[in-house]
This record gives sequence, C-alpha cells and structure tokens, in this order.
Amino acid sequence: MKLATKFGNYGGTFVPETLMPALEQLEDSFLRFSADTDCMEDLSQRLKHYAGRPTPLYYAENLSREWGAQIYLKREDLLHGGAHKTNNALGQALLAKFMGKQRIIAETGAGQHGVACAMAGAMLGIPVEVYMGTVDVERQHQNVQRMELLGARVHRVDIGGRTLKDAINAALRDWVSNLDSTHYVLGTAAGPHPFPTIVKFFQSIIGKEAKDQFSQMTGTMPDEVVACVGGGSNAIGIFSAFIDLPEVALVGVEPAGKGIESTEHGAVLQLGSDGCLHGMISKVLQDPSGQIKDTHSIAAGLDYPSVGPEHAHLSTIGRATYSFASDVEAVETYQEVSRLEGIIPALESSHALAYVKRNGHGKLYGKRVLVNVSGRGDKDLERILEYVQQNR
Ligand SMILES: Cc1ncc(COP(=O)(O)O)c(C=O)c1O
Repeated sequence: MKLATKFGNYGGTFVPETLMPALEQLEDSFLRFSADTDCMEDLSQRLKHYAGRPTPLYYAENLSREWGAQIYLKREDLLHGGAHKTNNALGQALLAKFMGKQRIIAETGAGQHGVACAMAGAMLGIPVEVYMGTVDVERQHQNVQRMELLGARVHRVDIGGRTLKDAINAALRDWVSNLDSTHYVLGTAAGPHPFPTIVKFFQSIIGKEAKDQFSQMTGTMPDEVVACVGGGSNAIGIFSAFIDLPEVALVGVEPAGKGIESTEHGAVLQLGSDGCLHGMISKVLQDPSGQIKDTHSIAAGLDYPSVGPEHAHLSTIGRATYSFASDVEAVETYQEVSRLEGIIPALESSHALAYVKRNGHGKLYGKRVLVNVSGRGDKDLERILEYVQQNR
C-alpha cells in the first residue's frame, strides 16, 4: 500500500532527484512503523508518561463572559516542552530510530519545534542539529538557550529573510548531503510528500482527544473549531477529527502582521496563489514572476510564505475557511487572556484567540467555539514588552 501523494490539486513531491530515494524510504518506513502495534504502544506510552497527554480541555468562563462566545480551550500549552510540536517531534524521532538513523536535523521558527526535537533526541540518545534564521534566533533566544541546554547544536541561518523559510532551505541542504545517516524531522504539515501526511498523523491526537473531551463535557459537538496556521500542523491536528462532520465549521487563522493591505504580513490563504515551495504545490506568497515574497508576523512560528497543502485544498473546496489577525490584535489578546484566565498563550495561539475575540459579539455570539491553544507564551514575554514600549 502507498499513501496518497496529493490533497486535491495540492501537495506532491517536487524535489531534486537525489532526495527521491530518501522520501520513498521514509514513506515505506512510516507505513511499517504506523502499522506496528509495539511501535504505536511505545509512542502512546511516551506521549502519556513523558509528554503529559492527554492535555485538558478547559471551559474558559471568564473569556466567554467577556467575549460573547462559549469558549473551550484545548490546552496544548500544557504539553511537555510548551507546545503541540512535541507530538510530532516524539513521533518522528521514534520513526528515525526505527529507520536506524543516527542523527536528527530540524528547522525551527519560534524555537518550539527545535526544543521538542532536542528533548526527544536527549531522551532517545540521538544527536540533534537545528537550523534557525538569525531574526528568529534573536526574537526567540530563550528557546535557543533551551535547545543548547538540552544538548542540541543550533545553526544560525543568515541568508534570505533569515526566518523559517530560510531555515527549511538550510535543513533540506544538509539532508541532501547526509541522507544515509540523517532523518529530517520537518516540524509542520508542509514540504514534500510524505511529510504533510506524517505530521498530520502525529498531530491528529489533538483532534481525537478534543472531540471526546468536548462530547463528554457538553454532550454535543462544537459549532466551530479554531486554530492558528503557520505551516498548519496544529490546525490540521485538531481539524482532523471534525473534517467529516459538516456541521462543525473549521477556521484557520493566519498572521495579518502589520495589515494585509501592507506588504508585511503572512496571509497566504487570503492573498497567495498556486506555486511551488519546499517540495510541494500549495498557496504561496509570490510576485508575478514567481519570486517568494518576504513575510512578516510578530509570531515567529507563523512567519512563513506558504502553507501545508491540505489547508490549500480545504480552502479551495470550502471545507475550512481562513481568517487573519494582526500583530496588534495578537498582542492585545495575549495580554487579555493572561489577565482574564491566568493562561499566557503563545503569540501564535493568540492569533486564533484574537479571531474569536473579534467575532465573539458578532457571528460567534453564544456559539460553542473550540480553540486550540497551540503553545504557552512565556517565550514571547520579552518581545511583547518591547512591542508595547515601541508602540506606546
Ligand atoms: C506555539 C506554536 N503554535 C503554532 C505554531 C505554528 O506552526 P503550525 O502551523 O505548524 O502549527 C508554532 C510554530 O512554531 C508554535 O510554536
């Protein structure tokens, strides 16, 4: 059996010939790994006892009172490492071991995926090297320190826009030269096939748990499920359990940065067009000659000029809709959620929450809204204080 390589017109494997055998080996190994009951039991035990699954579902009473919708938070911020990235990093690190690889490489934007890989590598005794743009190294330096403390080597990438796109390019270059020894743990549901499917598989635990917990807590299903979208892994993880329930609306929230009318944003599904980046066909922010545009978001994890191919597909067929939130909205929401609920959400997750805040007294009034809090915001505190100071 082989996996489908595309989601409608999106996805595929657009890579140099030298990478093809590694991607084929990855697909074959993943199929054997995911069908092996011992491997799946091992993953599930580690997710439970090491990473702390299941994460809670929490009815946010204060936010609901203030914002008008009935707001339920899926607390991926409470996962070990501080974000949903651990689900995928742990899964792929075990897969790397299963494949007999002796080294793991990864890219990171906000640093959360790098931290998750560093943790998994430390636990499993596999050396980890992480590529990170120098803009991100600076704005998420706490996570750089955490990665190094956990024993990972962090490569600073000082070319291009010096953010996530450039870190992925550098990781792919490393992988091409070290295919025999190395597994590339891609951190989001993007890139060439089979990565989007593998990452979705490991992140779908979020949706499975949230659906059961929601049903137990309320006896119903949510009216709407909301998640922020960078490459799209936390969103596809929570959406996956609800895609077949047409009565549940799915909304992804992208970064509007300084405003989608400006040139500094990352609203790919609003303003992107079909194109090829990082081995996949998807929506891409590009100029008329196909040059990739620089993006901007205050949230390093959302600062990416494309999106996972399944989101491009879900958007095209109208099964999910995609909205956006600006830097200003995300910062205000970060502060408000902290004050009202005693929960500090990651700047990335604050985009999803900002969308709910904006619409709570409008189309979401009284509706049951399930929001994925993809990570915790301690990593962002310095950046927030700086932003507030600059914009006073
Ligand atoms: C906390 C958090 N949420 C969301 C994201 C965005 O990634 P994705 O769209 O793959 O979930 C990141 C990426 O670093 C992150 O750290």
